[in-house]
Amino acid sequence: MTTKVIKKFPTLFQVRHPLLQHKLSLLRQVTTSKKDFKELLTEITILLAYEATKELPMTTQLIRTPLESFDAPVLSGKKPVILPILRAGLGMVDGLLSLIPSARVGHIGLYRDEKTLEPQFYYFKIPKHSKNRHFFICDPMLATGGSSLETINRLKAEGIKKITLICVVAAPEGIKRITKAHPDVPIYTASLDRQLNKQGYIMPGLGDAGDRLFGTK
Ligand code: PRP
Ligand code: URA
Repeated sequence: MTTKVIKKFPTLFQVRHPLLQHKLSLLRQVTTSKKDFKELLTEITILLAYEATKELPMTTQLIRTPLESFDAPVLSGKKPVILPILRAGLGMVDGLLSLIPSARVGHIGLYRDEKTLEPQFYYFKIPKHSKNRHFFICDPMLATGGSSLETINRLKAEGIKKITLICVVAAPEGIKRITKAHPDVPIYTASLDRQLNKQGYIMPGLGDAGDRLFGTK
């Protein structure tokens, strides 16, 4: 089994596929270039998203092969929404869209105040008529959990019920906070890291995901 469920956090799914874990180790390395960081993040997202979308609803549709007609399985329901948390979440959108090209894309803008570590809100745009859509929030880093928590709260305030959180690296502190506040939101991650440091960075982590993705440091 490549996905581990941790007893303490029943809604956390840690995807441990060897290809994913290898790519994550490359992503973490301080020597990884901006170009490789972006490409690896896309590849990791595809592998995470494969697992995170496993409960999407299905129906059947009569299709014709060159030999006969039959009821074939197809996705049902309204198109899902990919919701990156700006900025670093943008690096996961292409990976998700490559699996679900018809998905809608919303955006939420949040940055952490460097001193308080509290998320500061600056942008929110989701498709009209979103209530019955499944939202896939994406952000490479789940540290204190403040940014993800704020995002989930906003979606729920809009009446959205089906929410999945996809992150690449998570800290126990953030996972504890999200699972307590929103036990109905599954979290998919490639790694549950050791802890946060005093500055709120995930250890061993990969540094500042936004800065590494966009070359802003
Ligand atoms: C980073 C990261 C998450 C957030 C995680 O964003 O991409 O959104 O921090 O931290 P938290 O779980 O403690 O809220 P940052 O605030 O650095 O913004 P940026 O992506 O625009 O650089
Ligand atoms: N945001 C990041 O980009 N990295 C961390 O380790 C924590 C928050």
